[in-house]
Amino acid sequence: MGGSLFARQVESLLSPYKDPIVNMANLSALIYEQWSGLNWAGFYRRQKEGLLLGPFQGKPACVFLPAGKGVCAAAAEQDKSIIVDDVHAFPGHIACDSASRSEMVIPVHMDNRVVAVLDLDSPRPARFTEEDKRVMEAAVRLFEQYTEWRCEL
Ligand code: SME
Repeated sequence: MGGSLFARQVESLLSPYKDPIVNMANLSALIYEQWSGLNWAGFYRRQKEGLLLGPFQGKPACVFLPAGKGVCAAAAEQDKSIIVDDVHAFPGHIACDSASRSEMVIPVHMDNRVVAVLDLDSPRPARFTEEDKRVMEAAVRLFEQYTEWRCEL
């Protein structure tokens, strides 16, 4: 699928609601439906000690990812998108599903701070390309624009 079509789908899905749970849930569902070769797509939210599971599509996953370990923590702590072609070769990789072979993680920001990560897993080695990274980073920029993380209660 072309990146601009996906970006239009993301934008129409996100607008006009700015609720983080709504947007994380619907964006995970859209990605899981539209991107081929995935076995998991979802969010982890940043806490003091690590990352806590958020809305996702796929098999039930690890609830808490401790700081300093695994691909998601590395992306959050370095504020950098990461593609891992072979998860078995990534030191400290956390295997929530032993079927996963490659992974892409994109940091999500609010006020220039990383508040969450978007994590995509695939059972295919080297599933994710640099172009996929650009397309998903653009989707996450839209997500950031359409999401307000403050509590309304
Ligand atoms: N593999 C990730 C953990 C999250 S699951 O893949 C859903 C990691 O190493 O951080």
